Amino acid sequence: MVRAGIEDIGIYIPRGYVSLEKLAQARGVEVGKYTNGLCQEGFAFPFSNEDVVTIAANALENLLLNDSIRLEDIGRLLVATETPLDCSKTIGNYLAGLFDIPTDCEVYEVKHSCIAGTFALFDALNWLRSGQNDGRKAVVICTDIAQYEAGSASEPTQGAGAVAILVSENPKLLSIDSVTGTATKDCADFWKPLWSDTAMVNGQLSIDSYLEGLRLAFEDYEQKGGNTQFDYCVFHNPFGKMVKKAYKTLSELLPELKGRFEEKTAQSLAIGRTAGNAYTASLDLALASLLLHEGERARGKSVGMFSFGSGYSAKLFRGTVEGKLRDITLPTRVELSIEEYDNMRSGQLHLEEHEGFLLQRIDERGYRYYTKAGN
Ligand code: CAA
Repeated sequence: MVRAGIEDIGIYIPRGYVSLEKLAQARGVEVGKYTNGLCQEGFAFPFSNEDVVTIAANALENLLLNDSIRLEDIGRLLVATETPLDCSKTIGNYLAGLFDIPTDCEVYEVKHSCIAGTFALFDALNWLRSGQNDGRKAVVICTDIAQYEAGSASEPTQGAGAVAILVSENPKLLSIDSVTGTATKDCADFWKPLWSDTAMVNGQLSIDSYLEGLRLAFEDYEQKGGNTQFDYCVFHNPFGKMVKKAYKTLSELLPELKGRFEEKTAQSLAIGRTAGNAYTASLDLALASLLLHEGERARGKSVGMFSFGSGYSAKLFRGTVEGKLRDITLPTRVELSIEEYDNMRSGQLHLEEHEGFLLQRIDERGYRYYTKAGN
């Protein structure tokens, strides 16, 4: 079987930032509930001229800082999102225009709540393993802006971010095993009707479903003979406390994990603690956080990875770290006051980003136009 996996990762987190300490004070909630209870510090909140296309483009631009990547080598560009802008035109088609992606590159979008990025990743891996890739590579982009009703219990678990993952037969970062454990059920834990800007959540049910999905996916993985030796464990990260609960659940199934959260998982929470939930991108941001922190120490070590998408579907898989992730510096944050954040949400205030890819305008028929700062 072809050895395949992740060759490199690019990241983008919108610079606008909301502090949970200040949000708790403004909402009349004890600060400890958000910081210690959810284990979060804040969340990324996009400026008025940013959207899932611009943050995806910025993540791809970050990936392309690796100058060994040539656009003509990309044969597949998959975009995963659960917060799309259009039911028809894909984010990938906008990216094809912004980056001069070759016309023979297959571009399509994958939707399946937060697990869509993992399904896109395995689609890319299967394409490589099938040998139908003509020596070319795939790019998987996960891009989301997570928002809930202002003042709701879910609000502190908002967030935003994008990752661009180069998937190839030269997995310099992480080679990925072909065995996966899967769990799927019909569940009313979380959904977003087409008429709503924000997701609907049955909070406790979503937590219970995530943990049930983890147990069932693990059992399926074990039954299929998947390797359960995990030096590190990374999880879909809607908020830090959820990952702590997930680690505890996995330790009940794999007793050798007990009491080793700090060593095996804690470092994966770094980016998510201030970016918040980036839905499809959150698992890969967790992986990137871990790899950035561990550096050379991680080489040769195994990573158990758990992906969860509400509705629900879950997947457990395993990779081996093949090398160090290049240094990635995230752009400086710009803290928004709670008044600015509230007014931006209600459309009364427009604050603009001036760096990277930007939404230029939306015409009267809803068509979106993009530009890059400085162009
Ligand atoms: N000091 C310290 N801790 C405190 C506290 C205080 N003053 N007050 C409360 N807490 C603790 C609580 O004990 C609780 O901790 P435990 O779970 O360990 O008991 C924690 O803070 C949260 O408190 P609540 O359970 O009362 O919180 P809530 O019900 O008001 O809201 C939530 C929490 C359900 C996660 C809500 O934020 C939500 O609905 N978020 C969106 C849904 C979500 O992210 N679900 C995750 C699984 S689904 C998924 O992963 C897919 C996805 O990406 C969305």
